[in-house]
Amino acid sequence: MAKGKKVTVIGTGNFGSTVAFVLAMNGTCHNVVLRGRNYDVAKGKALDMSQAANAARQHTVVKAGKDPESMADSDVVVITAGAPRTPGMSRDDLLTKNAEIVKNYAREIKEHAPDAIVVVVSNPLDVMTYVVLKETGFPRERVLGMAGILDSARMAHFIFEKLEYGAGQIRATVMGGHGDTMVPLPKFTTVAGVPIEDLLDTEEIGEIVQKTRNGGAQIVNLLGNGSAYYAPAKSTVVMVEAILKDTNQIHSCAIMLQNDYGYSDIVSGVPVMIGAGGAEKVIEMSLKPLQIKRFKSSVASVQDMVDKLEELKFFDN
Ligand code: 2OP
Repeated sequence: MAKGKKVTVIGTGNFGSTVAFVLAMNGTCHNVVLRGRNYDVAKGKALDMSQAANAARQHTVVKAGKDPESMADSDVVVITAGAPRTPGMSRDDLLTKNAEIVKNYAREIKEHAPDAIVVVVSNPLDVMTYVVLKETGFPRERVLGMAGILDSARMAHFIFEKLEYGAGQIRATVMGGHGDTMVPLPKFTTVAGVPIEDLLDTEEIGEIVQKTRNGGAQIVNLLGNGSAYYAPAKSTVVMVEAILKDTNQIHSCAIMLQNDYGYSDIVSGVPVMIGAGGAEKVIEMSLKPLQIKRFKSSVASVQDMVDKLEELKFFDN
């Protein structure tokens, strides 16, 4: 049998498990490796998912990965590992703790899956993507952060909730970092091609923008002991499928900017064309002055966290 596609998912919590489960239910790839700190839990979940794949008549086999070697030959590695937010925490509060965890996995990927495309979803997302880039030394095309798809899906949800029509036809756009300064873009948001500005008034759009920014925290507060995972996992799988199926679709993703939108050497969310090579092209949209200003403050908040890590000599170890 020809060698099939392989995806390694690092982290066996709700987020990582759901990513692996959706991959298995969709039959996205032949092999999924689920790696986490507790091997028995990973093994139990992997067995459960492989059996679910049989129920779904899919060919995907999910296995637990005990050692770093288990990720060898992965086409894509998804990093979900790290502590999630709990009520009262911002994504940025997780900075140093998760940076250490993600750094160690990045080193393992560099050694054992040197050709993989890495999708980062640990928080604070943009900084963790930066950490993976620095630690692996991979080209920016092969290290992407997942957030724009999730934030856009949340915006689409809040639009649908308000309108009560247009399901599946709402194309929302959010750029910038995956934090409180994210930049929802009503001007680039449509329902079946109709600009939302023709369907909702300024106040209603303002409310939707605010709800989108607060979308993750709302779920953290309701769950009480962790953060969202169904929409984040589905959004991650959208990226993995775009890579494995070489769709060349455009999605908002976190990527290292290199002379894009006027920035370099910092990660933020922008529209990216995704294909077999990872990020095949960064798309430049023409932004209005207010959008430029908001994007600038979003980039600055990511830069502050990178600076904090640099002060701690994080990148010199
Ligand atoms: C969220 O926004 C987990 O950061 C993720 O829910």
